[in-house]
Amino acid sequence: MKIGFFELEGWEESLIRERLRGEEMLLSQDKIDEITLPPRTDFDIISVFVDSRITPKVLEKFPNLKLIAARSTGYDHIDVAACRKRGVSVAYVPGYGDNTVAEFAFGLILNLSRKIYYAIDQIKESDSFDLRGLRGMDLKGKTIGILGTGRIGKEMIKIAKGFGMNILAYDPFPDQDLAMKMDFRYMPLEGVLVRSDFISIHCPYNKATHHLINGKNINIIKRGAYLINTARGGIVETDALVVALKSGVLAGAGIDVLEEEGETKDEMKFLSKGKPTAMELRTMLQNHILMNMPNVLITPHNAFNSQEALARILSTTLDSIKGFINGQPANLVPEG
Ligand code: NAI
Repeated sequence: MKIGFFELEGWEESLIRERLRGEEMLLSQDKIDEITLPPRTDFDIISVFVDSRITPKVLEKFPNLKLIAARSTGYDHIDVAACRKRGVSVAYVPGYGDNTVAEFAFGLILNLSRKIYYAIDQIKESDSFDLRGLRGMDLKGKTIGILGTGRIGKEMIKIAKGFGMNILAYDPFPDQDLAMKMDFRYMPLEGVLVRSDFISIHCPYNKATHHLINGKNINIIKRGAYLINTARGGIVETDALVVALKSGVLAGAGIDVLEEEGETKDEMKFLSKGKPTAMELRTMLQNHILMNMPNVLITPHNAFNSQEALARILSTTLDSIKGFINGQPANLVPEG
């Protein structure tokens, strides 16, 4: 089979060559999207990370494609319906780093609640040990609202318990056994927004969760709460987020994922070669406003990025590809 790996860092190459010995392979550090296509496109299998965008137009360029192996849990950057129409299977990596992402989300929470980032920055920038402006708040006794109680949401609940927080959750498919066992309460989304001091998002991005937090419901959030998003940028309407931060509805935000993230990361190329819509340009501009707000901590989609998680991602992806080649596909994205 002809297999193309994209968005590699380099360290993965020896393991890929060892596990897929005998296969014809291209190992590339580039991403794939409508603007950036590889020099050859005759692959049976491609594997991408999160910065590629597999649209119907991109799929047309890969006539022999049978499998896309996403090296990520989220697969919203791949048009799965278009793949199905063309008979292309899509594999993903379920659950490689549940604790990894949850630990990072708590890193953002602690940085916001105890102003750790600002304190470190102050010393580095001005050698100042002044405590003014650095008073934080305890997590113990505060309420955290978890949106999405899947693999990562569950790890969040365990960690929040350790901090002595009260836990509320919203999920259209609640796990009541877990709620009993871990002593937390499910509520409708609005109930969670109204009561939580910290809101942390852990649902997938799809049509139903697009702008789950939006201009209509953001203002019911408890005044002075913090919003943490390590799931996907499009779950929060960027316009509404900027307004809520400016008006003080939100005291701050910890954001690992931005709406129009790929375009914002690679602006020069996007603006020179792509055809951005007015909406995309607006969101990209607002991302810059967010980046410069003192009460907003933005990280570059880094929550997954631990050594252990990356080893698990690669190993699961190679299992999926080997399984597919041997007629036993594994880790295919669920139907529907
Ligand atoms: P999961 O599939 O185990 O759990 C998702 C949960 O969200 C499920 O319980 C589901 O019922 C719930 N859900 C579905 N629709 C919802 C809605 N409208 N409102 C609230 N909850 C809803 O997924 P997992 O492994 O916990 O990952 C969650 C997301 O985290 C991924 O889809 C991915 O986008 C993101 N992620 C981000 C990473 C990063 O580096 N920043 C790394 C890994 C995942």
